[in-house]
Amino acid sequence: MPEAGDRVSSMSSEALHEPVTMEKIVSLCKRRGFVFQSSEIYGGLASTYDYGHYGVLLKSNVKAEWWRAVVQERDDVVALDAAILMHPRTWEASGHLEGFSDPLVQCLGKCKRRWREDHLREDAVAHEGPPDAELRCPACGGELSPPRQFNLMFETHMGPVQDEGSRIFLRPETAQGIFVNFKNVLQFSRKRPPFGIAQVGKSFRNEITPGNFVFRTREFEQMEIEFFVPPTEAPDWHEHWLEERMRWYVELGLRPDHLKLREHGPEELSHYSSATSDIEYLFPMGWSELEGIANRGDFDLTQHARFSGEKLEYVDSATGERYVPHVIEPSAGADRGSLAFLVDAYDEEEVEGRERVVLRLHPRLAPVKAAVLPLVNKDGQPELARRVYEELRRRLPAEFDTGGSIGKRYRRQDEIGTPYGVTVDHQSLEDETVTLRDRDSLTQERLPIAGLADELVRRLAADWRSPKLG
Ligand code: GAP
Repeated sequence: MPEAGDRVSSMSSEALHEPVTMEKIVSLCKRRGFVFQSSEIYGGLASTYDYGHYGVLLKSNVKAEWWRAVVQERDDVVALDAAILMHPRTWEASGHLEGFSDPLVQCLGKCKRRWREDHLREDAVAHEGPPDAELRCPACGGELSPPRQFNLMFETHMGPVQDEGSRIFLRPETAQGIFVNFKNVLQFSRKRPPFGIAQVGKSFRNEITPGNFVFRTREFEQMEIEFFVPPTEAPDWHEHWLEERMRWYVELGLRPDHLKLREHGPEELSHYSSATSDIEYLFPMGWSELEGIANRGDFDLTQHARFSGEKLEYVDSATGERYVPHVIEPSAGADRGSLAFLVDAYDEEEVEGRERVVLRLHPRLAPVKAAVLPLVNKDGQPELARRVYEELRRRLPAEFDTGGSIGKRYRRQDEIGTPYGVTVDHQSLEDETVTLRDRDSLTQERLPIAGLADELVRRLAADWRSPKLG
């Protein structure tokens, strides 16, 4: 069920024909070791999650693809990894101390649940109610308290004395680590606007209404770029990044009809933004934000210059021209992105009278690329399969599995999205060939062991199109 805090719009008719539900994703993630409830043996900690083996591999592939697209394949973006803990003045300058809050209302009736007042009002208006209608608790119909501003930053103390002077915050976005390093990067990288700084890291928000599995949590990973541009070029670069980020999701397999751009209305814009568009994905609970792409103007550099006393501007040494660059910010979530890739990949089909659950992940995102399976656990097959596996794993993430019937082992690999199954059988011992099973088409072909790694590397690098596109 969507939580009240999630900005979701109603499901379109395509969603109704999808085999996937959030319950199925949660259950698959637990069963196959992608994601677990955090601190489960103590009853769990609400809306925090731990990533298991395949979840770690999937999320790190998502992050690696992001790095590849935004740094490796461009000339104009450099990397940064700033500390989570920052000088407390950062959050005064950024406006987070003052403005990073949500209007919270609490049910005064039976259920006592807390809600985001702004979301309740938007829902009411979406259902054609008057904008000033009295709001009631959506869960039990109870009266609601007056709204109270609730700051979303987690607070802690640095050092042994816990007083006002030791108060610091867990960063609620990675972006500020980039702005405070603008001058360092400008000096070392010999870049001039337009150029960007990219960073991946944990952020923390004391969300009022987290929910929908890893969609909205209190601890999450962001993949953010702050792209600094001459002020007059900002609108064009905003367009560029909208297209570029949309292309990235489609190239990695998300179905285009499950993605859309949504421009923020003036009342929805963050305090720093003059224009923002969200890339939305059709999650099981409806269209929801996957990534925000904002035009932040010169807000951040100007604010940090004011609060720190440092000049944060670009000076052209040839012309002497100086200006504060404007910033375009594509800001994505690694957890939310991984969830979208899982949801989009999830499929069910009947094969020879049995149901098969398969993750049709883009091969570049699949946690394991090939599984080597002896047909039977005797007659020298496990030994040969082990040898094939050890050769393969030097070139690509591979697995060796001898446990259970071959059908069961294929099903396990299908459920984690392994693109290729390599089966060693009695013929393999005679002619040094194996069968290669394709996860999506289920075709099987005989290939020599010699050159198998090269062939798999070649196939994995080829263009891929989701079979769900028909
Ligand atoms: N620096 C801008 C910024 O942080 P945002 O729209 O608040 O913008 C950007 O966050 C992205 O970070 C979102 O599109 C989403 O993917 C991810 N994100 C934000 N809050 C999240 C949460 N509570 N849980 C998981 N991901 C979150």
